[in-house]
Amino acid sequence: MCENCNIVELEKKFEDKKVDLKLIDPILEKYGDVKGSLINILQNIQDVYGYLPLSAMKYVAEKTNNEKATIYGVATFYTQFRLNPIGKYLILQCQGTACHVNGSKEISKAMCEYLKIQPGETTEDELFTLEDVACLGCCSLAPVIMINGEAYGNLTPGKAVQILKDIRKKEKEGAINEN
Ligand code: FES
Repeated sequence: MCENCNIVELEKKFEDKKVDLKLIDPILEKYGDVKGSLINILQNIQDVYGYLPLSAMKYVAEKTNNEKATIYGVATFYTQFRLNPIGKYLILQCQGTACHVNGSKEISKAMCEYLKIQPGETTEDELFTLEDVACLGCCSLAPVIMINGEAYGNLTPGKAVQILKDIRKKEKEGAINEN
C-alpha cells in the first residue's frame, strides 16, 4: 500500500468530530518542541477530550515536527489510546485472574446483553462505554468492575446489571427534573 493510502486508511479509525482545538494549545506549547514527547502529548490530549479526535491529530502534525503517519501509528498501536468518544459512564470490567475464576466472563456477558454492546463499544445513547481491563488492584473484591473510578465488588451478573439499571434510572430522572 502506498504511504498516502496507508494514511487515509489509518484516518478512518479515528472519530472525525469537530472539537475546540484551542483547548490543546497549552499542551502543544509545553511539549511541542520536546523530543520524544509524542506519547505524552497524546495522553494529555486524551485527558482533554476523553479520546483522540482526528482533527486534533492533524493539528498535532501541524504544530509539531511529527509526521501524520507517526502520530497515527502511535495512537493506533497503544491500547491506552481511544480513537472514539466514550460514554458518560466508563465501565472497566476486570478480566484479571482473580476476577476470571470468580465469574467475570458471566458478568461481562450479562452487561453486554443488557447494554447491547461489546467491550470497546459505547451505547447508542452515549451513556455507557464498556472496556475490558487487566487487574484493577482490588482482587479481594473479585469479581470487580469500576465505573468512573468507583469499584463495585463481589458481583454476580444480576447485581452488575442492576447497577447499570440504577444508573440509567437516575439519569432518566435527572433528565426529567432538568426539563
Ligand atoms: S483480578 Fe480483578 S481486581 Fe485483581
